[in-house]
Amino acid sequence: MLILIGSPRRDGNSAALAEAVRRGAEAAGTRTQVCFLDDCIARLLHDTRNPRESAAEDGYEELFLERFLPADGVVFCTPVYWYGMSAQTKAFLDRSFEYYVAGHPRHDEVLAGMQHKRIGLCVASEESYPGVTLGIVHQLQEFARYTHSSFVGVVHGVGNRRGEVADDPRNPVAAAEALGREFFARAYSDYRADSPRSTAVWAAAG
Ligand SMILES: Cc1cc2nc3c(=O)[nH]c(=O)nc-3n(C[C@H](O)[C@H](O)[C@H](O)COP(=O)(O)O)c2cc1C
Repeated sequence: MLILIGSPRRDGNSAALAEAVRRGAEAAGTRTQVCFLDDCIARLLHDTRNPRESAAEDGYEELFLERFLPADGVVFCTPVYWYGMSAQTKAFLDRSFEYYVAGHPRHDEVLAGMQHKRIGLCVASEESYPGVTLGIVHQLQEFARYTHSSFVGVVHGVGNRRGEVADDPRNPVAAAEALGREFFARAYSDYRADSPRSTAVWAAAG
């Protein structure tokens, strides 16, 4: 599992949720890697027909090719910035295009590696109304759909001061830990009209 933190605050709320995900995942025996995107991303997407600098000028290439592509699961942890994901998180997604684009020597490997993952999301925001996360949830849902991935869970923590999500009475830290623990075991469904299925969702409900 790769856990990506999209906030510049090392001791912030996204980081607190990420740490809870990591704790839960490790308790379940999942191997985890955590990355602060600020450490790896120093620029936005280039025009792929006119690259201005070599692709390896920051840590993105290593992160994307060596850590993101091989991961079975990825959890994005981002603050809400202006009702969307942080620029760091968006740049992570945008810059994948430089490798995914037709003509890149590793295109086939990149295309295969981007698909069939489990995807999770932890969002930290100051405001608490459910709609504050919806733009981010929708964007990742579409990313998951596009890459044939399974979007298995969302945790929303409310806080503004560093680490304040721990005081959120809805207990997003526990929810993040559960997301990490159950990440590869959670039931996931996204039916089409002809999807084979039972009328009961949970086997025990019979
Ligand atoms: C540039 C910026 C924009 C923000 N925009 C919003 C917003 O639209 N809605 C909101 O609820 N909180 C907003 N916030 C507050 C953060 O989402 C909140 O403080 C969050 O807990 C920060 O997470 P972090 O500690 O991981 O950085 C914004 C904060 C910053 C710095």
